Amino acid sequence: MNRPAPLLAPSLLSADFARLGEEVRALDQAGADWLHVDVMDGRFVPNLTFGPLVVEALRPHTSRVLDCHLMIEEPERYVADFARAGADTLTVHVEACRHLHRNLQQIQGLKHHAGGRVLAGVSLNPHTPIAAIAHVLELCDLVLIMSVNPGFGGQKFIPQVRPKIRELRAMIRERNLPTRIEVDGGVIVDNIAELAGDGADTFVSGSGILRSERFGRDYAAAISAMRSQAEAAMTWRDP
Ligand code: DX5
Ligand code: ZN
Repeated sequence: MNRPAPLLAPSLLSADFARLGEEVRALDQAGADWLHVDVMDGRFVPNLTFGPLVVEALRPHTSRVLDCHLMIEEPERYVADFARAGADTLTVHVEACRHLHRNLQQIQGLKHHAGGRVLAGVSLNPHTPIAAIAHVLELCDLVLIMSVNPGFGGQKFIPQVRPKIRELRAMIRERNLPTRIEVDGGVIVDNIAELAGDGADTFVSGSGILRSERFGRDYAAAISAMRSQAEAAMTWRDP
């Protein structure tokens, strides 16, 4: 039986960086399930953001999942540092990993700060086919489908990724896996239902939650509106 609850993961990329701890606490109190941390190295993507020191600094501000999306080359050099800093999930890009199977095994072998192990994720750029992960899917706790080209918040959703979500959901269902499907980039209250209907169960949203015209600074209203849209549209779930 596979009946995942929708998870809402606001992206800190859209937060006020001068008040990052406060923003994390506000999102936690607003009902965020995961807090999405976009790590960029200026090489894999044309932008720079946070490293393990920032994850470590944020860790005492929330007990929610710190969902670390590593948009970096050679992630194997840094995953242990992120785990020690308090990351709960570590997602690497298939396009940045020459030895993806080994990289995922390495992440699954990392101890979680509160016991157990860190969750391993793999992310696919918009152009990368699902077939690229068909042979490592059993090593993935989550698959993150990029629905914009990574590097910046506030971009427009790329609709061509929707068939990939459907294809991956079918593969996960066929193999009876608990793997989560996370979608990231341009996710807003107006399109979350169609993505949930396609098979996504975990939704990253930066500007859609933190910089929304419709909800203003009311993060709780944005999160709850998105959650109820997703909940109603996940009709592919087992009863
Ligand atoms: C883009 C990042 C996303 C970004 C999403 O490279 O991976 O997580 O924060 O921001 P929005 O929701 O504004 O597209
Ligand atoms: Zn991201």
